[in-house]
Amino acid sequence: MTKKIAIVTGASRGIGRATALRLAKDFAGVVLVARSGELLTETAALAQKEGTEALAIDADLREPEAAKHVVDGTLKAFGRIDAVVNIAGAVPQIDILEMTDDQWDDGFALKLHGARRLAIHAWEELKRSNGSVIFTSGNSAEAPKSGFGAVATVNAAIVAMAKAFADRGITDGVQVNSVLPGPVLTDRRRSYMEKYARAHVMTAEEALEKFPSQVGITRYGQPEDIAELMAFVLSPGGRWLIGAALRMDGGEIKGL
Ligand SMILES: NC(=O)c1ccc[n+]([C@@H]2O[C@H](COP(=O)([O-])OP(=O)(O)OC[C@H]3O[C@@H](n4cnc5c(N)ncnc54)[C@H](OP(=O)(O)O)[C@@H]3O)[C@@H](O)[C@H]2O)c1
Repeated sequence: MTKKIAIVTGASRGIGRATALRLAKDFAGVVLVARSGELLTETAALAQKEGTEALAIDADLREPEAAKHVVDGTLKAFGRIDAVVNIAGAVPQIDILEMTDDQWDDGFALKLHGARRLAIHAWEELKRSNGSVIFTSGNSAEAPKSGFGAVATVNAAIVAMAKAFADRGITDGVQVNSVLPGPVLTDRRRSYMEKYARAHVMTAEEALEKFPSQVGITRYGQPEDIAELMAFVLSPGGRWLIGAALRMDGGEIKGL
């Protein structure tokens, strides 16, 4: 993949950062997108140490014009797009009975519509390059709970949307899939564990320690675990994965 260029959103922290750094080993260029410019610049410098070109683009992907900004910036710098990896997400983790309309809208605005617009704006380039799109969902899509009803709903919508894009991609030569992480130890997961601790009357440290055995997994996932899956899907060996919803969760969800 000596000439290939990947766009990774949510690249300032967590799974997105790990994925950008992992793809830096395989791609000629990576474009890192999020709002925290300084963190992006640091990650871009680390990516360059892997021997890739790296471009940081500050963007709030909830804004309708952000997708065009990212695609234009990528084409100006590199002239092509081979992969769009949508990882940015910040759906509020609030009880279904308490979430306001604005909070619902905000969750959809970034994780669903931000990713949808980026795929659409990049689509013609992806057709030209026979490229790939990954949408990040989450294993809550398959096991919705009241404490994070919107997260589960957005994640389920993303799986369906990815399949719709994948259907078009079969005609257009673009590979599309979704990835459903389980509990991965990131800033977002730590903030969820604080809520989990309050609900289960324990300290945050106790909650962090007890959660894996309570949900029946051997350990938390690390951002690098998901990054490896992303890299495989985008590699030549993963090319026949089309419209798949790839759950990687340490066995948290036991159902079919
Ligand atoms: N961690 C888990 O256990 C888990 C489980 C299932 C699914 N997921 C999903 O995996 C994805 C990454 O999760 P994570 O745990 O790595 O989260 P994280 O550490 O909170 O990182 C979220 C990323 O999204 C970016 N972001 C947030 N709002 C943005 C906006 N308006 N515009 C552009 N970028 C924005 C953040 O950067 P800035 O703040 O700099 O903008 C950051 O880079 C999310 O979609 C999440 O729902 C995570």
